[in-house]
Amino acid sequence: MDDLKAKYLGQIADAGDENALEAIRVAAVGKKGEVALKMRELGKMTPEERQVAGPALNALKDEINSALSAKKAALADAALDERLRTEWLDVTLPTRARRQGSIHPVSQATEELTAIFAELGFSVAEGPRIETDWHNFDALNIPGHHPARAEMDTFYMHRAEGDNRPPHVLRTHTSPVQIRSMEKQGAPIRVICPGGVYRADYDQTHTPMFHQVEGLAIDKDISMANLKWVLEEFVKAFFEVDDVELRFRASHFPFTEPSAEVDIRCSWDNGQLKIGEGDDWMEILGSGMVHPKVIAAGGIDPEVYQGFAFGIGIDRLAMLKYGIPDLRAFFDSDLRWLRHYGFAALDMPNLHGGLSR
Ligand code: DAH
Repeated sequence: MDDLKAKYLGQIADAGDENALEAIRVAAVGKKGEVALKMRELGKMTPEERQVAGPALNALKDEINSALSAKKAALADAALDERLRTEWLDVTLPTRARRQGSIHPVSQATEELTAIFAELGFSVAEGPRIETDWHNFDALNIPGHHPARAEMDTFYMHRAEGDNRPPHVLRTHTSPVQIRSMEKQGAPIRVICPGGVYRADYDQTHTPMFHQVEGLAIDKDISMANLKWVLEEFVKAFFEVDDVELRFRASHFPFTEPSAEVDIRCSWDNGQLKIGEGDDWMEILGSGMVHPKVIAAGGIDPEVYQGFAFGIGIDRLAMLKYGIPDLRAFFDSDLRWLRHYGFAALDMPNLHGGLSR
């Protein structure tokens, strides 16, 4: 019995994992284990022998069982220690520096103007940047021979010979989204369409890709007065000033009749721009009453519906509001510039909390 005890306690001490431990348990104290076999031999013993051997075997069985469970607990502790060691985490390390990334001023301006127009009842519509030249020009009352086509410095998509698909362009303005929105939603309609546009032009105030926001409101009783009010509300909210003076200047766009360019009263002092005061005027957008041909091209009856539209340069708005002098820097992806002019990622603009904190 001492041999059995030494053998199994030794094996238990050496067991490396739970599987080994289980194998030992079965061999030692399982139903057909060595201790059980010994117990069966009790029957062949004399009563005196049995009185000594019986309790001794039971004691052996108990001893092996408690050695097994002690070892099992020790193995579990060791496993936990190992896990804690490998999954160790130094919670005293400093966090990553704030503002690893930032929101680009164009994105910020877009979020801000979207929030403002949302309050005014406009939802956001989008269209493709690769646009049919029908949507970009013809549907907007700019036929093939029209000088506006030439003025737009259009990028045409290459077509292989024999490719008869309709010609496509990189959209030169967001105005085609007017057509797509009318086609999709019908009337009445109130949308803004922010997004990238393309023209072959490059200097301090022009880049081949830039951003516009189109506005379109179509209903049965929309007038130029509605346009004026909406634009005034927008400009006040965007530039965060209580009062602004806008000047509507008669102009011409093929897609509006009448058309107006809108200037905002401002002052330039030592290169510092102030909005809403002073003796200067600065042009900020084009607008007008949507031409009946454009409404018809969108699939809406111009005898019943009319509306206004406007187009604003978003990059220009951002330059004015945040005091950024050179448009080209918007697209240089210079991290130092982005850190300087960028906005914190979690500051979502809204009218109640303040647009740009
Ligand atoms: N599409 C014009 C441009 O890119 C801007 C514009 C002017 C849009 C007048 C309009 C509008 O909707 O009514 O220069």
